[in-house]
Amino acid sequence: MLDQLKIKRKQMPSQKMQPVIRADNLTRIYSLGDSDIVGIQQINFEIEHGDLVVLKGESGSGKSTLLSLMAGLDRPTSGELTVAGQNLTRASDTDLTRFRREVVGMVFQSFNLMPTLNVLENACLPGLLAGQAFDVARSRAAEYLEWLGLKDRLTHLPAQLSGGEMQRTAIARALINDPAIVLADEPTGNLDSRNGQVVIELLAELNRKWKRTVVIATHSALADAFATSQIYLKDGKISNRIEVKG
Ligand SMILES: Nc1ncnc2c1ncn2[C@@H]1O[C@H](COP(=O)(O)OP(=O)(O)OP(=O)(O)O)[C@@H](O)[C@H]1O
Ligand SMILES: [Mg+2]
Repeated sequence: MLDQLKIKRKQMPSQKMQPVIRADNLTRIYSLGDSDIVGIQQINFEIEHGDLVVLKGESGSGKSTLLSLMAGLDRPTSGELTVAGQNLTRASDTDLTRFRREVVGMVFQSFNLMPTLNVLENACLPGLLAGQAFDVARSRAAEYLEWLGLKDRLTHLPAQLSGGEMQRTAIARALINDPAIVLADEPTGNLDSRNGQVVIELLAELNRKWKRTVVIATHSALADAFATSQIYLKDGKISNRIEVKG
C-alpha cells in the first residue's frame, strides 16, 4: 500500500548508522509544591535509525515522561537528550517548535483531534502550521488518509468516527510533515483489540517499509512481534533492554 503513495518522501537511510536518539543521564523531576516527583532519572540509551522500540513498564514508570521529552514537548531537568542531531536540552523555544513540527510525529492514546475540524482538516493542520501550501497539505493528507482506509471519511468530524478511525486520522496528522521519527503513547489504549492490531500494523509498516524510527509506549503486547528492541522502565529507570533485531 505504502509503495503506491505518490508523496515524495525524504530519503531515510536504509542502513542503521549512528543513533537517531541518544539519552545521557536523562532526568525529569516534577516539582509539586514542596515535593519532587521522579518522572525519569539518570536514563542512558541509544536508538538507531530504523528501529521500532517498544517502551514498557508499569503505570507511573516514566514512559510518557520519556516520550514527551523525545517529542520536544517537555524539557529535561538534567542530563542530555539528542534527537536527530538536535540537542533538545539546549534547544531554544523556536528550535523546539520547529523540531516538534518537522522532525517528530506524535500519536496519543486520546487521539487529540480538533473536534470542529473534519478528518482532512485535522490531518492537514500541522502541514499548514509548518508552512506547506494549502493544496500541497490537502493532497498529501488525502493520500495518507486513503492509505489509512479513510478515503470516504474526509469530511467527517471526529465525533462521527469510531476510535480506530480517529486514531488513523491522528496517524495521518503525525505523518503530514514527513517526520523521521514517530512517537506513539499508548496508541491502542482506547481501541478494541482488532483496531489496536490495525494501528500497530500501520506503525510497523511505517517502520519496515519507510524506515521511520518508531517508538511505542504501551501496556499491550500487540507491538512485541514488530519490535527491534524492548526497553523496560521501572520507577523512572531502565530495568531491562531486550534487543530483538537480528
Ligand atoms: N505533570 C506532572 N506533574 C507531576 N508528576 C508527574 C507529571 N507527569 C507525570 N508525573 C509523575 O511522573 C511519574 C511517571 O509518570 P508517567 O506518566 O511518565 O508514567 P507512565 O509510565 O506513562 O504511566 P502510564 O502507564 O500510567 O501512562 C509518575 O509518578 C507520575 O505521577
Ligand atoms: Mg503514560
